[in-house]
Amino acid sequence: MVQEVWLNVESYVTGRLVPADDALSSAVETALAAGMPAIEVSPPHGKLLHLLARLRKASQILEIGTLGGYSTIWMARALAPGGRIVTLEKEPRHAEVARANFEKAGVSALVDLRLGVALETLPKLAAEGAAFDMVFIDADKENNASYLDWALRMSRAETLIVVDNVIRDGAVADPNTTDPRAQGVRRLYDALKDHPRIDATAIQTVGSKGYDGLILGIVKEA
Ligand code: SAH
Ligand code: DHB
Ligand code: MG
Repeated sequence: MVQEVWLNVESYVTGRLVPADDALSSAVETALAAGMPAIEVSPPHGKLLHLLARLRKASQILEIGTLGGYSTIWMARALAPGGRIVTLEKEPRHAEVARANFEKAGVSALVDLRLGVALETLPKLAAEGAAFDMVFIDADKENNASYLDWALRMSRAETLIVVDNVIRDGAVADPNTTDPRAQGVRRLYDALKDHPRIDATAIQTVGSKGYDGLILGIVKEA
């Protein structure tokens, strides 16, 4: 019953606030058709990422976890002129579907997709001297705390860090949780507690992706 209300409300707000878009719908459908999990952000959440990137006037964005490129397209469309989004994906099949979706959305020139395990790609990016205005962490939750470290190393003052899936049906508040993903998210909260360089908050969300949430953090001056 509650879930039905969540879905109805999500459809309602999406219908009012998130215009139908062929390239975005196609990104979701092609991923589904390829047998990939339907774990992309919801339409209102995708638009939130877009609005945050615009608010931040981001020209360099890093995404960890591409899947079919749905969230990537939302953020690519928010890039300041001359900007780029680097997105990291370890599954070749996901990367292939994502690349086709970037073509269809007309954002291929803005997207730098790096195939590989993120913990191997991140040191390379840092060695290139990459620095980002916004980072979206949305891959394997077990490595969230390490991803935060790398994000910080490639941050400037005021870099916005967004982390997906930080509530996990409430499992995150259970100190005895045996879910390794929830444990990974808890290590992230531990890292953020009294962090000297990041001001953060978390917001719970409900809708087509169940009961979950996101963390928003801003990096203070180095
Ligand atoms: N951001 C996407 C959803 C990402 S789902 C969207 O909202 O549209 C998580 C993705 O992270 C999956 O495609 C998965 O293959 C990828 N992933 C998981 N572990 C990874 C790792 N260690 N390195 C890189 N990518 C990883
Ligand atoms: C999972 C990953 C995600 O990024 C998400 O949004 C939902 C679920 C998962 O690995 O289960
Ligand atoms: Mg996610």
